[in-house]
Amino acid sequence: MTDELQILIPEERITERADQLAATISVDYAGKGELVLIGVLKGSFIFLADLARRLTIPHRIEFIAVTSYGDSESTDPGAVRLLMDVRHDIGGQHVLVVEDIVDTGHTLSYLLKLLEARGPASLESCTLLRKPDRSEVDIDVAYLGFDIPDVWVVGYGLDFAERHRTLPSICVIPQPE
Ligand code: IMP
Repeated sequence: MTDELQILIPEERITERADQLAATISVDYAGKGELVLIGVLKGSFIFLADLARRLTIPHRIEFIAVTSYGDSESTDPGAVRLLMDVRHDIGGQHVLVVEDIVDTGHTLSYLLKLLEARGPASLESCTLLRKPDRSEVDIDVAYLGFDIPDVWVVGYGLDFAERHRTLPSICVIPQPE
């Protein structure tokens, strides 16, 4: 780990929370058939892997990719673009979108609208992190790991300019300009 990073949420707390979330989700979806977990690339890949492996209910994994505003050429920070879609139809299925972090909420709001239009039996979201101070869109997150302050975090799948994704803990990096 480089010197400028400070641990915000240590690995053990993330593991403990993933255990709790997976237990709750397993109870909530018990007896409902297969749950479709849709991981939002790239940031959710580690959280999704840990969460999915703790579920005790039948499930399958899909991925979807959207632009994050760091990569966007748009001047509108709320603009979201689909880069890669899920492989299978989600019509009539129970769907849980798994996100790394909800910042302004535009990405999740876009995804929920896109997926809702495909007629799932149910559609909910699970996010590891949320920054309530940055919220611009009102979204009902069914499963939340942690609320965090308005800081830039890396590790456990999250990056800054593609760096630090594989750190085991969630760390604060000095805010990008
Ligand atoms: P939103 O559309 O503003 O909610 O932004 C969501 C996306 O912004 C996330 O999926 C991340 O890709 C990115 N993001 C927002 N805050 C952070 C952060 O602190 N660290 C890493 N990525 C972040």
